[in-house]
Amino acid sequence: MARFFATVAALVATGAHAITPEQMLSAPRRGVASPNPSGDLAVFSYSKYSFEKGSNAHAWHLLDVKTGNITDTGISASDVSEIVWLSDTGIIYINGTNDDVPGGVTLWIGDIKSPSSSKLVASLDAPYSGLKVANTSSGDLHFLVNAKAYANGTAYNPETAVTPKSTARFYDNNYVRHWDTWVDKQRYAVFAGSLSASSNYALASGGLRNLLKDIKFTTTRPESPVQPFGDLGDYDLSPAGDIYAFVSKAPQLNKANYTASYVYAGLFNGTESPKAINGPDSEAYKAGHQGASGSPRFSPNGTTLVFTQQDEDYYESDRVILYAVDFTKGSDSGVSVVNWRSLTPNFDRWVSSPHWAPDGNSVFITAEDRALVRVFNIPLNAGADYQPTSLSPNTSYVSDFAVLPDSTLLISGNSIWSSRDYYTLSSSGKVGQLFSATKADKELAGLGPHTFSEIYFDAALPGYDEKLHAVVVKPSNYSANTTYPLAYIVHGGPQGSNANTWSTRWNFQVWADQGYIVVAPNPTGSTGFGQKLIDGIQGQWGGYPYDEVVNGWQYVHDNLKDVNTDQGIMAGASYGGYMSNWIQGHDLGRKFKAIVTHDGISQTQAAYGTEELWFIRHDYDGTILDASATYDKWNPFNHIANFSTPQFIVHNTLDYRLPDSDGIGLFNVLQTKGVPSRFLNFPDENHWVLKQENSKVWHTEIFNWINHYSKGTPLDSEPIGE
Ligand SMILES: *[C@@H]1O[C@H](CO)[C@@H](O)[C@H](O)[C@H]1NC(C)=O
Ligand SMILES: *[C@@H]1O[C@H](CO)[C@@H](O)[C@H](O)[C@H]1NC(C)=O
Ligand SMILES: *[C@@H]1O[C@H](CO)[C@@H](O)[C@H](O)[C@H]1NC(C)=O
Ligand SMILES: *[C@@H]1O[C@H](CO)[C@@H](O)[C@H](O)[C@H]1NC(C)=O
Ligand SMILES: *[C@@H]1O[C@H](CO)[C@@H](O)[C@H](O)[C@H]1NC(C)=O
Ligand SMILES: *[C@@H]1O[C@H](CO)[C@@H](O)[C@H](O)[C@H]1NC(C)=O
Ligand SMILES: *[C@@H]1O[C@H](CO)[C@@H](O)[C@H](O)[C@H]1NC(C)=O
Ligand SMILES: *[C@@H]1O[C@H](CO)[C@@H](O)[C@H](O)[C@H]1NC(C)=O
Ligand SMILES: *[C@@H]1O[C@H](CO)[C@@H](O)[C@H](O)[C@H]1NC(C)=O
Ligand SMILES: *[C@@H]1O[C@H](CO)[C@@H](O)[C@H](O)[C@H]1NC(C)=O
Ligand SMILES: *[C@@H]1O[C@H](CO)[C@@H](O)[C@H](O)[C@H]1NC(C)=O
Repeated sequence: MARFFATVAALVATGAHAITPEQMLSAPRRGVASPNPSGDLAVFSYSKYSFEKGSNAHAWHLLDVKTGNITDTGISASDVSEIVWLSDTGIIYINGTNDDVPGGVTLWIGDIKSPSSSKLVASLDAPYSGLKVANTSSGDLHFLVNAKAYANGTAYNPETAVTPKSTARFYDNNYVRHWDTWVDKQRYAVFAGSLSASSNYALASGGLRNLLKDIKFTTTRPESPVQPFGDLGDYDLSPAGDIYAFVSKAPQLNKANYTASYVYAGLFNGTESPKAINGPDSEAYKAGHQGASGSPRFSPNGTTLVFTQQDEDYYESDRVILYAVDFTKGSDSGVSVVNWRSLTPNFDRWVSSPHWAPDGNSVFITAEDRALVRVFNIPLNAGADYQPTSLSPNTSYVSDFAVLPDSTLLISGNSIWSSRDYYTLSSSGKVGQLFSATKADKELAGLGPHTFSEIYFDAALPGYDEKLHAVVVKPSNYSANTTYPLAYIVHGGPQGSNANTWSTRWNFQVWADQGYIVVAPNPTGSTGFGQKLIDGIQGQWGGYPYDEVVNGWQYVHDNLKDVNTDQGIMAGASYGGYMSNWIQGHDLGRKFKAIVTHDGISQTQAAYGTEELWFIRHDYDGTILDASATYDKWNPFNHIANFSTPQFIVHNTLDYRLPDSDGIGLFNVLQTKGVPSRFLNFPDENHWVLKQENSKVWHTEIFNWINHYSKGTPLDSEPIGE
């Protein structure tokens, strides 16, 4: 680690600003700001890692939306995992400690201005999370939470559950594990409960009701939130607390083969099991809209629900469209919906994060658009051809936002130079800056838009007549009088992007501040530039995108005079790791001094070790049985004869979608050939390296490797030897 500190010292000595991995990893992390009903205060989570202490400090902070003043609420974030507003200072929160039931949680009601006077109102017997609350006209609070549950519907509490005597995992269908977790017999479910105003908000008799328990299924047991990334965004409760909605995967389809999911809705007080409003019997389904659903959100008066859906039942990167339906309610037998319609049939972007305008006449959404996530407004009565234009600033990547009572948006954004910005955006487009991490955090001091630029180069995708985009990031202490080696970074996905966004995993400024100019291209497959570019990757993994990263490299070589391509390196994770391996076997590989592959496919047939069979079936034109030629055509291992550039390989044990055997096999081939190579593994990390101490090693060893091969600095001797 001594080498690491020496680099920091050198930068400090020149007086130049530069961000080191350690600074980036120990800088504060701030969540999305959640405003109170009148919109004058907002609460957000705060955490900061200390390398000296080896631990994180967590807190809940309060933002004054008029002045930007930020104070600590004093609420212990080690106790409190979630806070929901009930009134302008009234809150209800989940406390992760339950003195009566080990592994359970408790609900507390209090005042954010005097947290010590909070009152415990309910004891819940499992680790519930994802609280959504409606204050009903009776004064009772209706709420939804989620937890894993047994097949019989009872919530699962790992601390009190009986541990089986054998560790066997035993399956008779092909979805045995996902992301970083082996599939067990429990599934997540949404639970409904009521707190009675007349008895100090005690949990009403009957306790919590598992809303998914009685849904009929033939193949896939209903589960909500949808794992592994689903959260409270997968369900909603109407403002009056009388109707709920949630997303669950198609019950008649195999989970490994299909992405399809439906929105279910039901009466909060009902005994009927919920109905899939866009399931196989629906108008939506019959019209061909059969893919994954998301983000159900009730309108302010509860009459309308918007949600997102893709068309294809196994294409995870199909266009995401916004829909609306109206409820006709009023009988105990459940809900029925009418007037299903698409709100963005011809908007060539992926809609996410719908938030209703207060008047219920339009919906604000986000969509990735040209290397930013931007905010748009969709009027309910907009015609089919309506093309919304971005409302948010051209320098802000919107993480999420909230709508205040006067339709002003409270935006939580970020960018390559700021981990968090809070600002308001008025209906007239006026931006009111409230907070910028770059100004507040000493770790980010000196960062700014001056290091960021964009270039455009030629596409190879037939019929695509726009230029392709790439992000360029210069070192913080850039001097026009010198040249910097190229760090060429290919993104994952392949349906993903290199964007103007803060990352704690691939932070381009941190890479640039090792003394490189980062160029991060968006070739065929990239998101945010329209569906045609996304769809073009199908059956083309090493095809058009490879030709395009060659075009991008050539553009840099010919046009960016401050970039030294002769000393360049390239790196990529996931699909970017696949592309690194493909490049290693092809001519572009000879242009780099070093290659870095993080969790990438090296053998396409081995991709059948994944559980997301829908993904490779789509991207490789079919299953391994009916499209074996495509799997073979784009297999990096067919080109091992040409592997010769020094390569650093990272592959983590908990990456179940891309098993670590791909990284080990690649390393073994390089070692067999005598190509300089190193293999880094984290047994406790998944597709990503999330723990700060692990990430510090990741950065240190990768930078040591590329700096050695690009600039001749000494190679460390830390790896485990003979
Ligand atoms: C920028 O930082 C590098 C790395 O420490 C250093 O070698 C170089 O002299 C600095 N350049 C300027 C202009 O400060
Ligand atoms: C911010 O709030 C704190 C606590 O209420 C107060 O002491 C301080 O004066 C405020 N600062 C500004 C700039 O308003
Ligand atoms: C629910 O709303 C009513 C009417 O606005 C209010 O009086 C009551 O305090 C609210 N309940 C809670 C727990 O904040
Ligand atoms: C959380 O619950 C524990 C156990 O009841 C209690 O000691 C603690 O004060 C609670 N914290 C908060 C912020 O409510
Ligand atoms: C459901 O199954 C679990 C685990 O076997 C058991 O502990 C629980 O009592 C069952 N619940 C009901 C309602 O039968
Ligand atoms: C889907 O999964 C089933 C059950 O494993 C299998 O029989 C079928 O061939 C799969 N279909 C496709 C298209 O992969
Ligand atoms: C349940 O709610 C519906 C709609 O709000 C209402 O019509 C019905 O009477 C309620 N049923 C009961 C048993 O309260
Ligand atoms: C609900 O709000 C919408 C949009 O403002 C309006 O058109 C509709 O009439 C309202 N419905 C009820 C029952 O208030
Ligand atoms: C963003 O940039 C585009 C193109 O330069 C411009 O037309 C648009 O007005 C800008 N939008 C905002 C919100 O500044
Ligand atoms: C770059 O070169 C110019 C012209 O030679 C000179 O005036 C300037 O001081 C140099 N800048 C740096 C940062 O060395
Ligand atoms: C290795 O590279 C050469 C030069 O581009 C090419 O002709 C040859 O086909 C490649 N071999 C393999 C196995 O990819």
